[in-house]
Amino acid sequence: MKTKTGAKAESRKQDDDADFDGLTRVVPSLAASCYIDADWYQHELERIFYSGWIYLCHSSTLVAARSFRRFRIGTQEIVVLRDDQGGLRAFHNSCRHRGSILCERESGRLQGKLIVCPYHQWAYAQDGELKATSSIREAPDFDKSDYPLHALAVQEWRGGIFVSLADTPAELSSGFERGSDRIDNWPMESLQVGHRWRKVMQCNWKVFWENFNECLHCPNIHPELCELVPIYGRRISGYRDAPDWHAHRDSSDPKYAGGLRAGAHSWSTSGQACGPVFPGLTPAEVARGQSYFVSLPSVFIACHVDYMRTVRILPLGPEQTEIEVEWLFQPQTLARDDFDLEDITGFAILVMQQDAAASELNQLGLHARRFKQGVLMPEEHYVKGFQDWVRAQTGD
Ligand code: FES
Ligand SMILES: [Fe+2]
Repeated sequence: MKTKTGAKAESRKQDDDADFDGLTRVVPSLAASCYIDADWYQHELERIFYSGWIYLCHSSTLVAARSFRRFRIGTQEIVVLRDDQGGLRAFHNSCRHRGSILCERESGRLQGKLIVCPYHQWAYAQDGELKATSSIREAPDFDKSDYPLHALAVQEWRGGIFVSLADTPAELSSGFERGSDRIDNWPMESLQVGHRWRKVMQCNWKVFWENFNECLHCPNIHPELCELVPIYGRRISGYRDAPDWHAHRDSSDPKYAGGLRAGAHSWSTSGQACGPVFPGLTPAEVARGQSYFVSLPSVFIACHVDYMRTVRILPLGPEQTEIEVEWLFQPQTLARDDFDLEDITGFAILVMQQDAAASELNQLGLHARRFKQGVLMPEEHYVKGFQDWVRAQTGD
């Protein structure tokens, strides 16, 4: 992942004897069919998206009692509810009568204390227990306790809401990508969503993740980003991605050291921060200007000195992927008279639109009858890491 971008000179000196991080042999990419084939997609849904913990949203969007949000992971409709006791509940968005969707709206609040099916009005308590049907007389052998909603495991972690469709979920942390940055010093649970942006892309979910995992594309796809993060202009994500990194190990030039351009403090069009710097960050984290936490397969979290941004990635079909981005701010930042939301959101939306367009081009080209498999270049070692993870999950 793009995690070593801003490492400082001190830590680089400790790595003096290490070789560079790039790939040193030809590595085949995944087979083209893995990005297109419907049966393979179903296999990935079962082994990856219906087995692991999936990030849904920030918990500040589900604070009020009886508020709910609706989500879709692959073919699975899910509803998450904040109950009257303040707990979180997650259910398959499916009525036990004849399977209708229960919650039609993307988000909202229950009208009363019960969850009522829009089809024949079966009514469920907030813990999923069936309280009433609409029949004049139920059959003598009908027992309401046989028909609770299908509950799902749900957990809040650092202000993020994760759900698992597995029968026996693993530890939540099992999906946290090894080597991604730690976000202990960011107060994610106390932040609030200031903006949300959603895009449906015509590409396989892995195509977008692979794009995230390399900067070989950065100079031609992201000219604005390369100005803000000069090392990306060299087509690499971290200082050790270059075979000659030893020659620049004492340089503080962000082109070699990573981090943001001189004078810039955050990911924004102006390069300026939109509010106070988070008080718990270390000097190195502030100097770096960007850190990335990854939880495969569903989210990466970009952490800046003044705000955070979650990018949730969910498959909708073999060749269709949804990204939903939430920008998280400190309440005092949102309350500022001079708060310039567009300066912050406009920059990331520009970059993500560029990545989405590149991903869609990538997807189209994968259909060539003679294209069986690509090849990874030295700078694409994080892509290899991602593909190895996919292989391990799918048993390939
Ligand atoms: S399907 Fe829900 S009440 Fe009939
Ligand atoms: Fe990109």
